[in-house]
Amino acid sequence: MTLRAPLALAACLLTIGSALADEQFDAGKKVFLEQAQPSCTICHTLNDAGSSGEIGPNLDELKPSADQVANAVSGGVGIMPAFDGSLSDEQIKAVAYYVKKATSK
Ligand code: HEC
Repeated sequence: MTLRAPLALAACLLTIGSALADEQFDAGKKVFLEQAQPSCTICHTLNDAGSSGEIGPNLDELKPSADQVANAVSGGVGIMPAFDGSLSDEQIKAVAYYVKKATSK
């Protein structure tokens, strides 16, 4: 009795945590596929997104960190455009989380 309640609470918090994380994953995938203009899919290969663009690096091979994605997306790199004017901070955070998670499976 004294032990069960905290365990149940911990299990409950874990469930909430992973549900939130998955929402972030889905939101980021939507940014990658649809909301970023031009779409990331035009230039990048990413298995999870079903994209095979070859203008930029293959993200499955690059396996960037979330910070690396966020920096590239907000400020642009080389011919990759900056998205800080067209995507919100939340969208950039979500797409960074998505690319990181989708490529580190
Ligand atoms: C017009 C083509 C184009 C689009 C659209 C594009 N990228 Fe890129 N991306 C590139 C190119 C080219 C590079 C390599 C730039 C360089 O290193 O000079 C790159 C680099 C990157 C990198 C690696 C950065 C690093 O630190 O080496 C990441 C991560 C990335 N892009 C993610 C994205 C995401 C996410 C999107 C959508 C929001 C996106 N890109 C949209 C062309 C594009």
